[in-house]
Amino acid sequence: MTTKPAFLQQLKTFSKQIEDVLEHILPPPATRLHEAMRYSVLGGGKRLRSFFVWAASQLYDVEPTQALKAAAALELIQSYSLVHDDLPCMDNADMRRGKPSCHKVFGEATATLVGDALIPLAFETLSSLDVTPQIRLELIESLAHTIGSTGLVAGQMRDLDQEEWPRTFMGLVELQYLKTGILFGFAMEAGAILGSASVTERNSLKAYGILFGQAFQMKDDWLDGHGDEATLGKPAGQDAEKFTFLTLLGPDLLHERAENSITEAIRELHSFGERAAPLREAALYVMTQGK
Ligand code: IPE
Ligand code: IPE
Ligand code: MG
Ligand code: MG
Ligand code: MG
Repeated sequence: MTTKPAFLQQLKTFSKQIEDVLEHILPPPATRLHEAMRYSVLGGGKRLRSFFVWAASQLYDVEPTQALKAAAALELIQSYSLVHDDLPCMDNADMRRGKPSCHKVFGEATATLVGDALIPLAFETLSSLDVTPQIRLELIESLAHTIGSTGLVAGQMRDLDQEEWPRTFMGLVELQYLKTGILFGFAMEAGAILGSASVTERNSLKAYGILFGQAFQMKDDWLDGHGDEATLGKPAGQDAEKFTFLTLLGPDLLHERAENSITEAIRELHSFGERAAPLREAALYVMTQGK
């Protein structure tokens, strides 16, 4: 499988657009907290989740300004999750997106508060969308459910309490679904909600996101064992003692499983035909990571 450069070009163009929107949503850097929020959100990250909100919404020709704003809300959540994930009490990672982690620059207390502040800003952003009240409410409800104590936070908790859970492949699939897949699932679902998609299409798009996220986390685990800090922009080798797809499956089986998930993800796009080309290419792109 090879990457089509068209996708990378599209992602690059999108990254510039989303940066601009985020720049306006974030408060000016007049206080230390706001400076730290901007440091953590702006100028880095692959912007994959927000790209998915955008790409899914464009299957339905959603008005670009609203689609970008909803995408930016998810990028705020992604940034919060990374700031907290890097804290010494969590993964204790010194680097993120090629620069020192938020807590290394601003201190642990400020980094904690940065995360605390980014979450409501994301919801405020969704609540200010110029869409129907029902769409606004569905987005807010779905995001709240996605990142709460039975979603992303549950995944992070399980990642920390690994010894309390069964060390099986299915156990790991569930863990990674909660910590990673669920956010990609939301990204796709958000595009479908914005586009008032049918239940069938909404479910297919969400399934694509979850399967993509599964392959993505497999590759992330592989990169932790085989990448280096300079390329990854974050520390490598942190998960050597942890229960991950790499430590459970080893590299060969990991790649095989990731490829299966991507094939399944692409299958979910069947009914969308050529319009879903960017999403197919995104899926193929993840396969090129770490090979
Ligand atoms: C990092 O996600 C967290 C994981 C789920 C592995 P990304 O690798 O997408 O991080 P950014 O947003 O591009 O920095
Ligand atoms: C992070 O997973 C997932 C969330 C932040 C929800 P990881 O801990 O594997 O992410 P990296 O490797 O630090 O980016
Ligand atoms: Mg972690
Ligand atoms: Mg981490
Ligand atoms: Mg990781």
